[in-house]
Amino acid sequence: MDILRKLAPVFLFASCVFLITNNNGVEGSHRIYSRLQNVPAGEVNQVHRTAYHFQPPKHWINDPNGPMFFNGFYHLFYQYNPKGSVWGNIVWAHSVSKDLINWEALPNAIFPSKSFDINGTWSGSATILPGNRPIILYTGLDNDKRQIQSYAVPVNISDPYLREWDRPDDNPLVLPSSDMNASQFRDPTTAWWHNGHWRMLVGGKRKKSGMAWLYRSIDFKHWIKAKHPLHSAPLTGMWECPDFFPVALHGKNGLDTSRVGNDVKHVFKVSLDETRYEYYTVGQYEPETEIYEPDKTSVDGREGLRFDYGNFYASKTFFDSSKNRRILWGWANESDSADDDTAKGWAGIQAIPRTLWLDPSGKQVLQWPIEELETLRGQKVDLNDIKNMKQGKLVQVKGITAAQADVDVTFTLGSLDKAEEFDPNWEKLDAESVCALKRSNVPGGVGPFGLATLASQNLEEFTPVFFRVFKTKENKHKVLMCSDAKSSTLRPFDIKQYRPSFAGYVDVDLAAEKKISLRSLIDHSVVESFAAGGKTCILSRVYPTLAIKDDAQLFVFNNGTEPVTVQTLAAWSMNAPKQMNQNLEF
Ligand code: FRU
Repeated sequence: MDILRKLAPVFLFASCVFLITNNNGVEGSHRIYSRLQNVPAGEVNQVHRTAYHFQPPKHWINDPNGPMFFNGFYHLFYQYNPKGSVWGNIVWAHSVSKDLINWEALPNAIFPSKSFDINGTWSGSATILPGNRPIILYTGLDNDKRQIQSYAVPVNISDPYLREWDRPDDNPLVLPSSDMNASQFRDPTTAWWHNGHWRMLVGGKRKKSGMAWLYRSIDFKHWIKAKHPLHSAPLTGMWECPDFFPVALHGKNGLDTSRVGNDVKHVFKVSLDETRYEYYTVGQYEPETEIYEPDKTSVDGREGLRFDYGNFYASKTFFDSSKNRRILWGWANESDSADDDTAKGWAGIQAIPRTLWLDPSGKQVLQWPIEELETLRGQKVDLNDIKNMKQGKLVQVKGITAAQADVDVTFTLGSLDKAEEFDPNWEKLDAESVCALKRSNVPGGVGPFGLATLASQNLEEFTPVFFRVFKTKENKHKVLMCSDAKSSTLRPFDIKQYRPSFAGYVDVDLAAEKKISLRSLIDHSVVESFAAGGKTCILSRVYPTLAIKDDAQLFVFNNGTEPVTVQTLAAWSMNAPKQMNQNLEF
């Protein structure tokens, strides 16, 4: 594959690779750089650090772990290397927040020290047991580096921060069975309760099939593997970080993970190690028979739906009982090299938490940044009614800090007659490959139109987020959303950096609606975008050289022959949270 060729030089840097090398540059499961793992950050380079995305003051982070709301606090744990800026030495770091925006760092909650996790404390999830008692299930690596599932509980339940976590000696709870590959058995889910039993999933792989092993327990201590996995799919490889939860058929409210019934569907998500992307299906869960059946509109594997068509991995949801919503956290890795990361002293951010609910069509989910993010909005600029932007027209959005902004724009279109033909050969390509052919500088019919984010004044570098409308042979319209990192930096191409033309299709009937919205959260080295109210989302990591800090600009553009109107555009400078993980010296 092309991508592998592009990445070949990056692999030379890896002193050793474990599990799988076939990935798209979104580093994850996880290249091991022995020579860098224990190289502590010197001075932390601030140029591309984010202001309002979650990141600790230094070093490497990956998966969000065990998010939960408990007694007035949100808890976020995450995979963290306390000793360096590449993957390794992984512990569960811990932060708490009252609003999912301002975070306070606490001592690491779980770290290798017991026989059952001496070689690693990997990802897992939290469940709140009856009587309001939180419990964590996580993957430990034992002396033989087997992946086994253990539990942790708060030492002092009346400590509002739940600072200390105990891993009792009756661990582990679940061992891989003899027919399993013990190095492909990890990332337990939040458990759900039905009819006298707890259930939870562990991700795995059998031959080339991805597996979501299902376990049942009466007391949360003794777990028995069910006869059948909850779900599996051939040729999908290792399933990391499975997530399984109910969504309401109607409305935006989230549901407790144990909810079943006629008024819900279920969402099943896996993080596919082979592609380093995540895929989900929407389907029907029958708790009596333990069968989960994806709907016909949802396919498993690489052709499937994605929460995000960019750099977003190892995500996890939780039910926020204080606001009746389901919240999604996802990890966005760097797109630069391990040496760059070591030099800058940090790597990885968490995406802005997103509220997630079922689209009224029932075919996909919708996602939107949590409402609390709006408390960070500062100076606002409105550009309403920029009528009939002609081809080549570029309008600058002035008056905000464009490197640290939230922008929400709605475009209206006259007719779709000029939509370019969708070449039938492109049916075989993924959206990203089509976007790589049809970038923002390639003139079109209806589109490309959108935002040029993190742009230098003369557009020597910019990250465009845009739409292009195609017409298929069957006279249907296809709306492509792109977030293109190719022109995001002036750094030469021989510098190891991943600059994909991320893209996904947007399931909207533009012929009927005649408008489409786009919201982008811009934060120095991240552009996180939501199209059509959260139908298609793309997160890009980029490293501009000119478009940094106060020199970054924001533009709105049209490069299609069909004029486009900006009906509304609101842009805000974003303030940094007051408190973001200061003093993390654990
Ligand atoms: C996903 C993952 C998980 C594993 C963890 C290790 O990024 O590989 O499967 O538990 O990271 O840090």
